[in-house]
Amino acid sequence: MLIDSYQRVVDYLRISVTERCNFRCQYCMPEKPFSWVPKENLLTFEELFLFVKVAIDEGIKKIRITGGEPLLREDLDKFIKMIYDYAPDIDLAMTTNAYLLKSTAQKLKEAGLKRLNVSIDTLKPEVAQKIAGKDVLANVLEGVEEARAVGLKVKVNMVPMKNMNADEIVDVLEYCKTRNMSIRFIEYMENSFASKEISGLKSEELLSRLREHYRFEDEGFDGASPSHYYRMSDGYRFGIIEPYEDDFCKQCNRIRLTAEGQLIPCLYFDEALSISKAIKGGDVVGAAEVLREVVKNKPEKNRWGGEDGEVSSRAFYETGG
Ligand code: 5AD
Ligand code: SF4
Repeated sequence: MLIDSYQRVVDYLRISVTERCNFRCQYCMPEKPFSWVPKENLLTFEELFLFVKVAIDEGIKKIRITGGEPLLREDLDKFIKMIYDYAPDIDLAMTTNAYLLKSTAQKLKEAGLKRLNVSIDTLKPEVAQKIAGKDVLANVLEGVEEARAVGLKVKVNMVPMKNMNADEIVDVLEYCKTRNMSIRFIEYMENSFASKEISGLKSEELLSRLREHYRFEDEGFDGASPSHYYRMSDGYRFGIIEPYEDDFCKQCNRIRLTAEGQLIPCLYFDEALSISKAIKGGDVVGAAEVLREVVKNKPEKNRWGGEDGEVSSRAFYETGG
């Protein structure tokens, strides 16, 4: 079992399989042109799988594939199948922008993927174009429908931003509610790559706007999820992720691996260690040592909203949020 210095059990690994993306979301990587990590620096699926086996043997029970946009990586379903065949009980999920999901959902499901998180920030095509930098909405919604049709469980993320999509929180919530998909509103997290124009909607304001339409009760946190949950009188539950709140880190159980093999102990933190050398040399003992060291280095809290007012230079497209 992997336990950090604050007695938190770390059993959740997020693997970014590529930092590349076919979107240019305002809150993530709006700027082009862009220099990508050279392909030869990426770990191959065989190499990633070698680390996955180490991680599972050390106590990881949940794996989420992220990006960039993970579906840009060819043969992703084969990687998922490798993990599934090694450990069918692993909670195997993926975060995607859903753009390529319509043609891939079936294969992903067959490979052993169980759940998906997708971003739906708006239901208006022109707003989607503004947020993602191209006309994406039709593909995204078709992708989501297909995923549901093949039996993948879908959760939705929305980042509400003032003067952008904040007026759609009820519409997007209703879209999810009528399909029995849960929704989590994520407070915009400042980072040096995002558009300077963004002004995120804070949770108090979000809640007060939702209260104009619904009655709901505060249910607090649930397990290791970073979401604060609220339950409506008809039973439907929605979540809010507030990374600036203290409670956010208390139950954190996760570490993140980048496509280049950097193992990151915290969403914000800059300290990371590479597993690349060990894994490329087939040294599973060395890789396990790096993993234990990173878990040991996991900080008590993220530094968002810290006293020094730092803005994270950790790119979301490297760590999949
Ligand atoms: N702030 C909040 N959420 C973000 N995401 C990406 N960048 C940010 C940010 N700066 C979220 C998106 C997406 C997921 C991959 O990460 O909602 O669903
Ligand atoms: Fe791509 Fe996701 Fe970043 Fe948007 S938030 S640019 S979809 S990686």
